[in-house]
Amino acid sequence: MNKSLDNNDQTTVRLSNSPEDVKANFDLFIQEISQQTQLSDWPSASAVEQNALVYSAETINAACERAESRMALKNEMARALSTGPGLLMIQGAIEDTAALDGATELFADMIVQQRMSNASGADHFAKAGSNDRIWNSLEKHCMAHAQSFINYYAGNSIAIVSEAWLGTGYQVTAQVNQVNPGGQAQSAHRDYHLGFMTPEQLGQFPLHVHQFSPMLTLQGAIAHVDMPIESGPTLYLPYSQLHASGYVTFTSPQYQAYFQNNYSQIELQKGDAVFFNPALMHAAGENKSTNIRRLANLLQISSALGRATEAVDRARMLETVYPVLSHLKQSNAINDAAINNVLAVTAEGYSFPTNLDTDPPIDGLAPRTQFALAQTALRENFASERFNAELRAQERRRRSQTEDTETF
Ligand SMILES: [Fe+2]
Repeated sequence: MNKSLDNNDQTTVRLSNSPEDVKANFDLFIQEISQQTQLSDWPSASAVEQNALVYSAETINAACERAESRMALKNEMARALSTGPGLLMIQGAIEDTAALDGATELFADMIVQQRMSNASGADHFAKAGSNDRIWNSLEKHCMAHAQSFINYYAGNSIAIVSEAWLGTGYQVTAQVNQVNPGGQAQSAHRDYHLGFMTPEQLGQFPLHVHQFSPMLTLQGAIAHVDMPIESGPTLYLPYSQLHASGYVTFTSPQYQAYFQNNYSQIELQKGDAVFFNPALMHAAGENKSTNIRRLANLLQISSALGRATEAVDRARMLETVYPVLSHLKQSNAINDAAINNVLAVTAEGYSFPTNLDTDPPIDGLAPRTQFALAQTALRENFASERFNAELRAQERRRRSQTEDTETF
């Protein structure tokens, strides 16, 4: 257990501020990320590049021909992503070059349409104008050209690494990100889930959730163009997924400075993919080129195990309880703690999944939840009609099919 994590009550993750503990934690981080990847430990890998593992689509296809070799490769990839370097590159992951180029054209058209209609392309995760986003490129690709979609996703690479990390029944989402010349580097971070949270929210999740949440998601990126270093392919710090307090500590200057001096950055060819543990410290690089639009299709793949057994119409429940709660609150017959307890069993308390075209985050990285809307409505004493209207509008914004996006 990490000594500097004050987790005595088992309910929060707080960092001890004592200089000794901060130093011990950083020393542990250095120890964790100082491991050297040896090719001999990874029988199916074709190379080690800047401490990361490289696999080829040919090796993957050969392994997929027999159940035992497929299982052995899955085990190796799971080890690579958990206790190994935390990332792996697959050369030629999208083997059907025509499908890849066809998808690139479809995405380019979507970006043009977005710009013309001013519908979106706004990216709440980067400075305006430096990049173009296509949220939910999975569904938009499928709806725009079913055959292209089939050819693109039919190969073994995405399937085997997803299964290796998440088991079967995984759920794929995809988002295109095109970083234009001049696009700035990101600061180094971890990804969804806990990587999207504020320090206050992180403190509300116990240590064991910090440790298991990376196992619920796999991050991937498929290169749609050749990405030389000058175009700014992603920077990674291998083995940094091992650092237990990383969700809390990686924003601090000491860790950021270390990252800047020690990252790995791997050149990609069109069709290559990188998959990584979402707890790996990473950042998109600066696009210093004058003419490369660095277009990647980002994959965020989720475990099947994150869902409940029953479907519940929470908006309908909220419409029913809101007038009663509102009346109780206005007459001081209920306190805020009791209100929150009721809302916790009634409202949807998580921002995702949502439609990021129409339901963008307002403050921070996560859109407003149903729970937060109900809290605001009660605090500001919305009339029931107004609350119901805002609730239904929020529901519409969260759906994938909207007036804004169904043209694709
Ligand atoms: Fe990221």
